[in-house]
Amino acid sequence: MTKHREVKAALLGATGAVGQRYINMLPKHPYLHLEVLMGGESAGKKYGQAVHWLFPDAMDSAMAEKVVKQARPESAKGCDIVFSALPSEVAAEVESKFAEAGFIVVSEASAHRMDSDVPLMIPEINAEHLRLLETQKRKRGWKGAIATTPNCTGTGLSMVLKPLIDEYQAEKAIVTTMQALSGAGFPGVPSLSIQENVIPYIKNEEEKVAAEAKKILGTFKDGVIKPSPIEMGISCNRVAVIDGHMETLYAEFGMDISPEDAERTLARFRGEPQTLKLPTAPDQPIIVRRENDRPQPRLDRMAGSVPGMSVVVGRVRNGIDARSLQLTLLSHNTIRGAAGTAILTAELMEREGYLE
Ligand SMILES: NC(=O)c1ccc[n+]([C@@H]2O[C@H](COP(=O)([O-])OP(=O)(O)OC[C@H]3O[C@@H](n4cnc5c(N)ncnc54)[C@H](OP(=O)(O)O)[C@@H]3O)[C@@H](O)[C@H]2O)c1
Repeated sequence: MTKHREVKAALLGATGAVGQRYINMLPKHPYLHLEVLMGGESAGKKYGQAVHWLFPDAMDSAMAEKVVKQARPESAKGCDIVFSALPSEVAAEVESKFAEAGFIVVSEASAHRMDSDVPLMIPEINAEHLRLLETQKRKRGWKGAIATTPNCTGTGLSMVLKPLIDEYQAEKAIVTTMQALSGAGFPGVPSLSIQENVIPYIKNEEEKVAAEAKKILGTFKDGVIKPSPIEMGISCNRVAVIDGHMETLYAEFGMDISPEDAERTLARFRGEPQTLKLPTAPDQPIIVRRENDRPQPRLDRMAGSVPGMSVVVGRVRNGIDARSLQLTLLSHNTIRGAAGTAILTAELMEREGYLE
């Protein structure tokens, strides 16, 4: 059994749709202890009274009693890591203040994701990108540093593209998304706009997904990330599903590809978190379903050994010729697409000595 240090964590944006996922996941964690909750309007109130709780399972009673603190470095004194689930406009300044004050920040927000010295982490794909933290500290003169996790839509997509690029040189990806309501935070899209409807536009999302996926899938050499050359076309839609982003992918390759081989390659995909047996790492990051009508958000979003951390893929078939492939993928947007990947990143950081 590997020995872990006990890690004290603080959380910025604890009352939001993503913040609540941390409150749901961290009290069960073997060595990450959520000690401090921080927020904006909720500061000064007990968490249980300030939050509009979104989950059917009961809130951890110790969390409910915690008083939410102001989003300032002094509030997190004594903590080893700060998770941030702040809106991007707020995150840009607040996260930099925490890093400057010496904290390691793991952020869900887009504010710093594309900074050239900030890693954009999916630990199964790019564990080595964490080495950028040293460059960042040196360049910015900070004692702490910021690591980020991707947009919820790009996460499942990048996980599926990684083995397809490595094994069959995927060159082009055309993607259409069907994104859940919780991806817009709480209260999100007005009910009268989304009931009985699909909205074919999510502000800034298409550009973000493509640029982020290229960075995540990029190679790290001589202290710099060289983006993946894969070409991408993305269309984003909001649908009336609560949790779970579904996406159809049409990919083109530099070689012939059989759907059966592709299914085997996807199901075999493993990364550093599986080798290290990190607590939030699912045994199988990609689960392949062979029924014609899977994946489905309601049935598959909590699949896998760590619920919500596996991407579920189905309907794998050739496209217009043997060098193309079509498939459908599903990933849980606030677990694999947000809190779960940030917690996995923190576990990797702990194991690799970044929290000392
Ligand atoms: N939803 C998803 O599926 C998803 C997935 C990946 C990434 N993200 C990203 O994660 C972040 C959070 O998303 P969300 O969906 O959880 O948003 P949300 O539901 O709107 O929650 C925002 C949180 O930020 C806090 N906050 C707002 N203004 C603040 C301020 N000035 N100072 C301190 N705290 C402030 C709020 O706390 P108070 O109530 O105390 O004001 C609330 O807890 C965003 O950057 C989003 O883009 C979301």
